[in-house]
Amino acid sequence: AAVALPLEASLRPVALRHRLAASALPAPFSAPLGVPPVLAPVRQDADTDYYRVTMRESTTEVVPGLRSPVWGYEGIAPGPTIRAVQGRKVVARFVNELPATHPQWGYAPWTSVHLHGSASLPQHDGYASDITNPGQYKDYRYPNWQPARTLWYHDHGAHHTAENVYMGLAGLYLLTDPLEQSLPLPKGEFDVPLVVTDHMFTTDGVPLLNIVEGKGAWGDVVAVNGRAWPVLRVKRRKYRFRILNASISRSYRWSFSDGTPMTVVATDAGLVPSPTVVRDFRHSSAERYEVVVDFSRHRPGQRVVLRNISPPKNVDYARTGTVMAFDVVDDPFPTTDNAVPDVLFPEQPAMNVPEGAALRTRRFRLHRQNGLWKINGTTWDDVVRSGFRKVLADPRLDDVEVWELVNESGGWFHPVHIHFVDFRVLSRNGLPPAPHECGGKDVVYLGPAETVRVLVKFERGRGRYMMHCHNLVHEDHDMMAQFEIVDPAVPAPDPLSEPSSW
Ligand code: C2O
Ligand code: CU
Repeated sequence: AAVALPLEASLRPVALRHRLAASALPAPFSAPLGVPPVLAPVRQDADTDYYRVTMRESTTEVVPGLRSPVWGYEGIAPGPTIRAVQGRKVVARFVNELPATHPQWGYAPWTSVHLHGSASLPQHDGYASDITNPGQYKDYRYPNWQPARTLWYHDHGAHHTAENVYMGLAGLYLLTDPLEQSLPLPKGEFDVPLVVTDHMFTTDGVPLLNIVEGKGAWGDVVAVNGRAWPVLRVKRRKYRFRILNASISRSYRWSFSDGTPMTVVATDAGLVPSPTVVRDFRHSSAERYEVVVDFSRHRPGQRVVLRNISPPKNVDYARTGTVMAFDVVDDPFPTTDNAVPDVLFPEQPAMNVPEGAALRTRRFRLHRQNGLWKINGTTWDDVVRSGFRKVLADPRLDDVEVWELVNESGGWFHPVHIHFVDFRVLSRNGLPPAPHECGGKDVVYLGPAETVRVLVKFERGRGRYMMHCHNLVHEDHDMMAQFEIVDPAVPAPDPLSEPSSW
């Protein structure tokens, strides 16, 4: 069984000695924003698209001019975007061609691929201990039965998720459906994904995973779509930005330098019932928020900066307050007529589960004990030692429950992710959720000393699924447990399966 490694002990001194100095970082907005390429299927038949995705080492320039090793899906980070249509299945073969050990960190990069926000069939949805070693591959099956949404696929290998994702193993998976297609939201080149990550490098470009006292890893470089502090030239019109926070630990609070409002049109589970206008909002790891931003009233030549107004984690990381810029270009025909509809998706399933349908309330305490992060006293190693039988909850298929997430870990926050399901945030410390949390979610920010109640319906799945903190350092050490959706009529599938070799 996999065992936690005290990586921080070996990494921290290196981080302090060889870190690329802030003065050596490039001026912001010197590189154009890139958009990850869309992956072409290797084969298609009547109801399925087949993909092959190889995880391999390559090089990249997160900081322009500084070559860095990267472990990416297809060798790029973010990985290529997979586009899926509701009702058409995807089978993806993920091939692990990574080096046998990490050259600096010394661990073996076993992998498990999780499609965050979706189901897999049978149960193999990136179960952390369902690992694929270098030289092996595994086929994952995605039913795509859900409404349109922005998903992402990322590594979930037991105890090495932070390292694997930090090296680059994350990409987008965009699921669409007829409703989304029919709405007058910005499309094509005006529908832009923004995958935000933070990094730290040595003077010669080696990534530093700056794990601070086992509590998280924070970088001093902020990148969007794999490029530090990029700039996007925008026309005078509306844009849809699909923002994914793919950072290891960092939470952001977005705000535009000139106060430009953002209209939240989608959250983790896709379109919200009706849009909400905000001037700033908090965005923790793994959450997805989609906002429509209107540049039609900006002056040509104007620069609008997307800022992070969360206080910096360390005083010398002040540049993490700047994220990217939008340069408004001259356009003789500004588009001003595409208003965001007042109603987007009133049938959003997660938002339509009545609270009165809840059969029970379960309590999950997130806490720290003996240097380990835990949920109700449990770590992933406890689950491993139980032969993968230990579960924290056992709802029956189609049950509705209230899950009460209680932060008992002092000043730390936890983005809590529940696999397989969507939920609705009912309350935070007894008060209504934040305005931007206005749709279905699969990750919820649990602030210091907060209690967050969420309403969940356990539909369609059977078997054991993980729940964990999406601060990947917490997840790896070892704030992850599982629940089981029980269907008395059907035995649960085994969450582990043998990978294949060739
Ligand atoms: Cu995005 Cu269990 O993970
Ligand atoms: Cu946490």
